[in-house]
Amino acid sequence: MGTFAITGSASGIGAATRARVEAAGHTVIGVDLRNAEIEADLGTPEGRRAAIDGVLERCGGTLDGLVTAAGVGPPFPAVPMASINYFGAVALLEGLHGALVASGDAQVVVVGSNSSSTQPNMHMDLVEAFLEGDEAKARQLAETYDDAYAPSKLALARWARRLAPTPEWAGAGVRMNVIAPGATLTPLLQAGLDDETFGPLIKGFTVPTGGFGSPDQIAAGIEFLLLSDARRFLCGTVLYIDGGTDALFRADAVPVPWVL
Ligand code: NAI
Repeated sequence: MGTFAITGSASGIGAATRARVEAAGHTVIGVDLRNAEIEADLGTPEGRRAAIDGVLERCGGTLDGLVTAAGVGPPFPAVPMASINYFGAVALLEGLHGALVASGDAQVVVVGSNSSSTQPNMHMDLVEAFLEGDEAKARQLAETYDDAYAPSKLALARWARRLAPTPEWAGAGVRMNVIAPGATLTPLLQAGLDDETFGPLIKGFTVPTGGFGSPDQIAAGIEFLLLSDARRFLCGTVLYIDGGTDALFRADAVPVPWVL
């Protein structure tokens, strides 16, 4: 049985994932602000370092999987959101990469969002600042736009897809994939629904299947990427579990052949 680290393990999608991974007989090292094996603030460099060190100590330097679910959404302030959602996730992915390689057969799921492809007016300079690893610039742009959520999730998905097929990841036995949930009823979404600006926007968003997703539905998708028999052939996939919203907005946005 394996050892898996899950950030954001205390609530919502992370907690539902934890339940499924434990039910499958694995050991989970949870990382969260509170109610977790490792209590750390992924919004700060010190917190990220403490989280990485704590996981490495507990897993003994060998990790079979990592799920980066910790995150915040609107109306949480955009500047700390930029640090938590993107840099908090990437720091752990980079900091635990050696332990994942040491497993020789590891699986990573990055929690993105369908907002990365369905939000209009994407701030691409902010996406680029994330991908350049420039936290100061990203925070400054997040403040300027008073927005960081969808850009942070688009950058995370691109970061993961750029690295997933490389010799250092897939070639080293570490398969990385992205899950892109739609609106899912968790405390994060409830805070948005309760907000007078974001509430009507969330409620007005078209979901072809109707309603919101449940944390366990998203966790079932994560379990597929993490533990299923298909996992060793899954690499760089972005799995949308969003009631059809992405298909509705972008029916023809299936990958096209690349050209030299
Ligand atoms: P949630 O609020 O239920 O859980 C998020 C967890 O992250 C919480 O336990 C929280 O304490 C932790 N966290 C927040 N800031 C942190 C920090 N600075 N350091 C360490 N831990 C921190 O939210 P939910 O919905 O389960 O979100 C999980 C992930 O799913 C997030 O990355 C979110 O962006 C993503 N997502 C959620 C959607 C939704 O509609 N609920 C839709 C698309 C993506």
